[in-house]
Amino acid sequence: MKIIVTGSLGNTGKLLTSILVAAGHQVTVISSNADRQQDIEALGATAAIGSLSDAAFLAGAFAGADAVYAMTPPGMGGSNIVANNTRAGEALATAIQQARVPRVVVLSSVGADLSSGNGPIAALYNIEHLYNKVPGTAFTYLRAGYFYLNFYADIPLIKGQGFMGGNYPANTVLPLVHPRDIAAAAAEELQQPSGKKVRYVVSDVRTAADVAKVLGQAAGKADLPWVEFTDEQSLQGMTQAGLPEEIAGLYTEMGAAFRSGKLQADFEQNGQPVSGKVKLEDFAKEFAEKV
Ligand SMILES: NC(=O)c1ccc[n+]([C@@H]2O[C@H](COP(=O)([O-])OP(=O)(O)OC[C@H]3O[C@@H](n4cnc5c(N)ncnc54)[C@H](OP(=O)(O)O)[C@@H]3O)[C@@H](O)[C@H]2O)c1
Repeated sequence: MKIIVTGSLGNTGKLLTSILVAAGHQVTVISSNADRQQDIEALGATAAIGSLSDAAFLAGAFAGADAVYAMTPPGMGGSNIVANNTRAGEALATAIQQARVPRVVVLSSVGADLSSGNGPIAALYNIEHLYNKVPGTAFTYLRAGYFYLNFYADIPLIKGQGFMGGNYPANTVLPLVHPRDIAAAAAEELQQPSGKKVRYVVSDVRTAADVAKVLGQAAGKADLPWVEFTDEQSLQGMTQAGLPEEIAGLYTEMGAAFRSGKLQADFEQNGQPVSGKVKLEDFAKEFAEKV
């Protein structure tokens, strides 16, 4: 099959490309950075250099494709994040329609069933709805859990303050995922002519307290506590750590949605499907290497 991977050699793109090349597919990887060409070719794929906001470039890259892995990078500019990410989805939808791509597997998120109050995930709600209007293409939305990798940002807090925390309590149940499990699910779906419209991709379901305990242990801090912050403390902590105000505000909104339970409600109503293999304790081994 001729398969196009957006997302370059990022967290999911690189792993997915390796799986698809090993399965004998003809893979093209889209990157915005010409310097990435050699690394893409070293994986056995072809590079297409251009922007995910450029519908004409994308339509050219998608011509004759059997399937596309469509993701929108998290930071499409430092401001108007939801609008900018939605615009990348618009460009992708236009290109998918123009190139008449039969099969598209989309990286979405737990919480993308909500139009607002879910932080940056609102863009993925918009994007799922844009894709739903494209005729003749079989879409599958991979609604991924919260990436384990996000916890790398907590290393300074763990080392400096001796706790982990967020604006949700220790007993909050979090759907967590490793990019390896996303790549495996995406590869499986891309090789099928159609699939379920929404597929949750979650590796483990654990409380925030568990996350602190297990990752604390990996960091050499036994019984690391999870501390609940107020929304104000959360926002302030992120901006003090150098995050721009807008994205810090969106992450705070997302944390509040975890606290209320509405972010994970649809996943839970669907029976909390855990198809991934990488458990929190497995990720803790990778985490230990970065601390
Ligand atoms: N973090 C979470 O907890 C979470 C949970 C659920 C879903 N998600 C979703 O997962 C997605 C992120 O996936 P990921 O972690 O695989 O991505 P990633 O590794 O952060 O980024 C993928 C790559 O996209 C490329 N890129 C950036 N801007 C581009 C542009 N304008 N045009 C073309 N390529 C561009 C970059 O590579 P080049 O420099 O080579 O272009 C980047 O390395 C987001 O949509 C996010 O909402 C995240």
